[in-house]
Amino acid sequence: MKQLSLFPEEGEELENESIDICDWGTFKDSLKAPIHSWFTYPAGFSYKAVESSITQYEIKPLEFIYDPFMGSGTTNVVAKKLGISSYGCDAHPFVFKIAQTKLNWDIKLSDVSTAIKKLFALIDETQNQLNGKVVLEDIFPELVLKCYESENLFKLLLIRDSLFGSDISQEMKQFLMVSLTYLLREVSTAATGWPYIAPNKTKIKSSTKDVFSEFQIVTFKMVKDIELVIREAEESYFLAKHNLFNIDSRNTKEYIEDNSVDHIFTSPPYLNNYDYADRTRLEMYFFGYAKNWADITQKVRKKLMTSATTQTLRGDTRYILSQKLQCYAPKIYNILDSAIEDLGKIRLTKGGKKNYDLVVAGYFNDIFEVLQDCYRVLKLGKKAIFVLGDSAPYGVYLPTDELIGELGIAVGFSSYKIDVLRTRGEKWKKNPQRHTEKLRESIVTLTKE
Ligand SMILES: C[S@@+](CC[C@H](N)C(=O)[O-])C[C@H]1O[C@@H](n2cnc3c(N)ncnc32)[C@H](O)[C@@H]1O
Repeated sequence: MKQLSLFPEEGEELENESIDICDWGTFKDSLKAPIHSWFTYPAGFSYKAVESSITQYEIKPLEFIYDPFMGSGTTNVVAKKLGISSYGCDAHPFVFKIAQTKLNWDIKLSDVSTAIKKLFALIDETQNQLNGKVVLEDIFPELVLKCYESENLFKLLLIRDSLFGSDISQEMKQFLMVSLTYLLREVSTAATGWPYIAPNKTKIKSSTKDVFSEFQIVTFKMVKDIELVIREAEESYFLAKHNLFNIDSRNTKEYIEDNSVDHIFTSPPYLNNYDYADRTRLEMYFFGYAKNWADITQKVRKKLMTSATTQTLRGDTRYILSQKLQCYAPKIYNILDSAIEDLGKIRLTKGGKKNYDLVVAGYFNDIFEVLQDCYRVLKLGKKAIFVLGDSAPYGVYLPTDELIGELGIAVGFSSYKIDVLRTRGEKWKKNPQRHTEKLRESIVTLTKE
């Protein structure tokens, strides 16, 4: 791997034109990379940023890297390829399964071929019996119905149910569910793009794809990806251990020992009203894991740290700035308290009356807990790196990077450094409803000494 400093020193230019660090906070690079591309997670970051950090801080094979907001597993996949051990947490059950699948490289071409044969034998058996008898409206919520032509949805259902009902191994089922998940967006006729599904907008291109053959194409491409990545991986990659947990990273005491981690590389949810639970609404409805909004709130939204108004509830103490934060970081508490007070008033003047005041309180309460836990697990002399964006809800500017840096100091880190990756929000600047603050995406590097 090319030796590259994560951030050039002042005056030093990045020589390689192809290295575009302004995209490191986005999923752009990862969308084209083997394995990383299995699930489009626009909330994800670039695998190149992780590689670069590992090189810069000289993380060695079998040392441990930790991502407390693992998402689709970018950090862990990079670590695995380099023979570095990893920990990863994500509280979102569906996204967690995606990460888990991406880390399983024991899937073999011959086993996949056998599984696909079994699956299609089952599909052949049931297709004729069920044709014309299945009422899709009785099975799927409206959102799913709106995203597909009936013929395609029927085929997707046949794959899903044959998969659920087959006797193939659990890990193979999970692998095939990820390829089916990929296919869901591929063959949809609706503009199922990020961040919100817009089922009334039609995307003509994909409707011509044949579901059964696409499913096989996608699945075999995934196996090829594994073979390719293994060929490029460190020879001893299989010796490294990868411990992934579907848990809340505010407290990992039962899972990760004190002073056991050599590097932390992560991107927490940004304070930008982004609803992670909503991203997987289509998938969760399709697989039958949830039937409606309330179901998703119960199974996902409630489990995640606060970053969106859809998670908040007035009167719930989770959304009142904590006394613990006040005790550890009184100055930051006062800054936040004043912003929260302003937001409490401003929201009443707005049509949507969004609970941004509650989101700010909940966000910093939660991130404070995560920082404390990160400090606990990190070894002395090591770095914790947070890729994040700042925000200005209802025009109240919050320099999230600086605030997190300061909270880091409050929990024990000895110093922090901020490097700006890019400025954001330019495309909105003509909108008179929006604040005029220039937002940025930065990397906050915290040092434990
Ligand atoms: C910005 S995304 C990280 C994406 C990741 N870097 C990637 O490349 O896929 C933040 C993640 O934090 C997760 N998350 C939110 N609250 C959490 C919590 N309390 N504990 C663990 N994970 C959480 C979300 O589910 C989301 O996947």
